[in-house]
Amino acid sequence: MLKVGVMVSGGGTNLQAILDAIDHGTITNAKVEVVISNNPGAYALERAKGHGIPGVCLSPKSFDTREAFNEALLAKVDEYDLDLIVLAGFLVTIPAAMIRKYRNKIINIHPSLIPSFCGVGYYGLKVHEAALARGVKLTGATVHFVDEGMDSGPILLQKAVEVLPGDTPKILQQRVMEQAEWKLLPQAIDLIANGKL
Ligand code: GAR
Repeated sequence: MLKVGVMVSGGGTNLQAILDAIDHGTITNAKVEVVISNNPGAYALERAKGHGIPGVCLSPKSFDTREAFNEALLAKVDEYDLDLIVLAGFLVTIPAAMIRKYRNKIINIHPSLIPSFCGVGYYGLKVHEAALARGVKLTGATVHFVDEGMDSGPILLQKAVEVLPGDTPKILQQRVMEQAEWKLLPQAIDLIANGKL
């Protein structure tokens, strides 16, 4: 059984998609051991609680230095003896020591077709604002392994989504979530849990 930790910052719809996929048997051989948030107000923590999964909040703001936060984050992750760490809308830079220790064991979902609209400054709605500003007709989502760069690790899965006339960033974000993110992230976890990647 793959022991999974999910790291979140906000609403947690991707976390919900993972929990639903486990409940429905779309993901097999995997269990979410912990949900870790940097944001005490993240609704994702409520979703974890609703599923009887420990929800932990570690905010950089409660530490004197970034180094102290990074050490505490790694220590917290280590406590759960995880096989896979899933960044599901986690908007904090992963400490280098954690990337080294968990190489090829951290995956991230990004709401564009990497290498478009990714890297520093591209997160959440900003990604969709940039896609609309550029006038692309196709966007999508990407699941990739996390390395030392920003959105630069090896790509596992991608799915394209159409941009439609009249789209606003919010409408496009919702379509990318529904058609791509909520499918791709569970699929990636299931492939890893069943040794297919
Ligand atoms: C998702 O769209 C995810 O792809 C994005 O944040 C959102 C989180 O939503 N992540 C990034 O932009 C990372 N660069 P959620 O909390 O409802 O799952």
